[in-house]
Amino acid sequence: MNKHTSPDFKAAKIAGAVHTDQRHDSAHKHVTGEAIYIDDMPEPAGTLHGALGLSTVAHATIRGIDLSAVGTAPGVIAVLTAADVPGENDISPTGRHDEPILAEGAVQFFGQPIFCVIAETREQARRACRLARIEYDELPAVIDVWDLDPAKDRLVTPPLTLKRGDAAGTIAAAPRRVKGRMRVGGQDHFYLEGHISLAVPGEDGDVTVHCSTQHPSEVQHMVAHALGVPSHAVTVEIRRMGGGFGGKETQGNQFAALAAIAAKRLGRAVKIRLDRDDDMLATGKRHDFVVDYDVGFDDEGNILSVDYIYAARCGFSSDLSGPVTDRALFHCDNAYFWPAVHAKSAPLYTNTVSNTAFRGFGGPQGMVGAERIIDEVAFATGKDPLEVRKLNFYGTRERNVTPYHQTVEDNIIHRIVAELEESADYDGRRREIAAFNNHSRIVKRGLALTPVKFGISFTATHYNQAGALVHVYTDGSVHLNHGGTEMGQGLYVKVAQVVAEEFQIDIDRVKITATTTAKVPNTSATAASSGSDLNGMAAQDAARQIRKRLTDFAADKYSVPVDQIAFLPNRVRIGNQEIPFPDLVKQAYMARVQLSAAGFYKTPKIHWNRDKGEGHPFYYFAYGASCSEVSVDTLTGEYVVERTDILHETGRSLNRAIDLGQIEGGFIQGMGWLTTEELWWDGKGRLRTHAPSTYKIPLASDRPKIFNVRLADWPEAHEPTIHRSKAVGEPPFMLAMSVLHALSDAVASVADHRICPRLDAPATPERVLMAIEQLRREAGR
Ligand code: MTE
Ligand code: MOS
Repeated sequence: MNKHTSPDFKAAKIAGAVHTDQRHDSAHKHVTGEAIYIDDMPEPAGTLHGALGLSTVAHATIRGIDLSAVGTAPGVIAVLTAADVPGENDISPTGRHDEPILAEGAVQFFGQPIFCVIAETREQARRACRLARIEYDELPAVIDVWDLDPAKDRLVTPPLTLKRGDAAGTIAAAPRRVKGRMRVGGQDHFYLEGHISLAVPGEDGDVTVHCSTQHPSEVQHMVAHALGVPSHAVTVEIRRMGGGFGGKETQGNQFAALAAIAAKRLGRAVKIRLDRDDDMLATGKRHDFVVDYDVGFDDEGNILSVDYIYAARCGFSSDLSGPVTDRALFHCDNAYFWPAVHAKSAPLYTNTVSNTAFRGFGGPQGMVGAERIIDEVAFATGKDPLEVRKLNFYGTRERNVTPYHQTVEDNIIHRIVAELEESADYDGRRREIAAFNNHSRIVKRGLALTPVKFGISFTATHYNQAGALVHVYTDGSVHLNHGGTEMGQGLYVKVAQVVAEEFQIDIDRVKITATTTAKVPNTSATAASSGSDLNGMAAQDAARQIRKRLTDFAADKYSVPVDQIAFLPNRVRIGNQEIPFPDLVKQAYMARVQLSAAGFYKTPKIHWNRDKGEGHPFYYFAYGASCSEVSVDTLTGEYVVERTDILHETGRSLNRAIDLGQIEGGFIQGMGWLTTEELWWDGKGRLRTHAPSTYKIPLASDRPKIFNVRLADWPEAHEPTIHRSKAVGEPPFMLAMSVLHALSDAVASVADHRICPRLDAPATPERVLMAIEQLRREAGR
């Protein structure tokens, strides 16, 4: 028997334990180009390529389709229309049957796929698309929700109402009142890898689809419906996405279904990889909103009551607009206690692409509405907005019930904000900036500190479950699989750390494997930031089952009590001897112990009654705050983010290196949303911003010149999540609100902070300039 008793060996720790910094498992492959994305996979012999024929009008009945020239174009093998869908021509994720794979009889937005060309090469397919002749009878198109009436106009899904107390009565009786309206813009996901699916036909009508998706199980079900076959005939696999950000939660269904239909029909592999313009035209984005607010408050800045309508441009189908607009309402409070509140969503039908999930899932839009109210009250009472914020924060023991009647039990916003205020020297810089603005005629500076409180869990309760599959091979190496998908966020490495920790083996002994519906079934989308919470727990459950079997086996074989067996780094102590982990595994195998296990987890505590607007939809909240300083050129509206300080809560982080990346990336992506990323439709409902030439995401040079990011790694105040870590995927996105409010602060300085600038999002330089002009007019200077 091997014995390892050297003291050095004993002191060793495993590589890749939880709570240690681990690089993303694929980081080096991302930067060297070795990471294999779907378009990098070797193509099966004879692979064909698809391209989509898109609608050129926003709303019309189709009078005639002539695809004869398309069909005879060089290289074209097939042209698919709605009539070629063997099963159901629908990919609505919520079963509302309102989203055709290919348009049938009518089109409802500019860019809607009508037909799909399959050719020998992608270029041939794309060229052939242009030869279609489609005659439309145009219908009136509804584009902008600004002009719509939530009470009368068509909704894509039933609205939600949240209420507590008598909002209208309290507002009417309040000493002060402000009403207003704001626009909050949408956002294109701009993942580096666009949508792509490769379908490979198999025997007995089976098909395997490699799809860039956050939700393999849904793709599996959609493909099965479209083909009219059982789910067991379809396997969906994804090793990694080049970014998802919510844009691949449902939007991949269409291309997967088309590739699978074509592959089965032609008996050849079919790949559909969207061109960037087509991707931007034909796939959904973040919902833009129009928020109407009415608020009652007192002279001190205490907010007494709030009444909101959140109207969203949903596009032509429901997609995820129901849950997205619900989550906007769930965040209409951000970190604030509204003593009385009435909030209603209006998920409006429009003749635009159907909007979808995007990091924060409506939450950011909801919070921007809350922060606008803070700004209004601050300007009306002449107080620093930060003072008004702090005055209205949720309390720790009282004033702690949300508009959806969940009690906030884990509130640490006071501590986060106090620490950030101190470390960012908010007060000192507030004075410096005032002095600077006094002397600087053209360039004005602005400062803002904004909080984030974000609810963690899917609001669809049944989604809060996960499965994992762990195999231990006879050499002691481990194969790990779970239902979560990797989109760059570092989920795979975090779950591998959890498994390494359970077995106490180095992380390179744990093989990370592609997500596939064939190994772990009926999975939820990797979304709602809950990937590591859910899959980490499921994988831990699987590993613990195997560990228990190994323990029982060892106890039996070596005749020692179970409590004298311990998993030490890469070895196991059994009574007073130690053997390497692989040796124990080998012995267990010889004794016919099962070395494979399926793990499972479901989130406790949560429930939600949508009809009543009451429940406990979130397992816990994630908190953070950021402080940004900007300078604005008041002649051009151009601006620079001079400095941002962030303090963001991660609980006991599984991996601080990954979490830091999520915080930095989330903040920058949020900043793009609130500043330069503008979606623009023309009068005919044509999206004119469908390429990087017209749609501006942040550049490296746009990052704050000084960027201090700190993790609040406080384990105390929360639920027993996986190793007491907290979800970190989405919450940091909303930290970017401090940039919007710093811009508002700089703009306000041109009228001595007497008028609320009501700066809408995105605050493009153009919009900043217009706000400055407006304020100067109002102030009479
Ligand atoms: N980070 C990267 N690099 N790429 C992404 O696509 N998506 C975000 C976030 N961080 C995303 C990302 C979104 S929208 C979500 S919901 C979470 O990651 C999902 O992963 P998680 O649940 O494992 O945090
Ligand atoms: Mo994230 S929007 O929940 O995929």
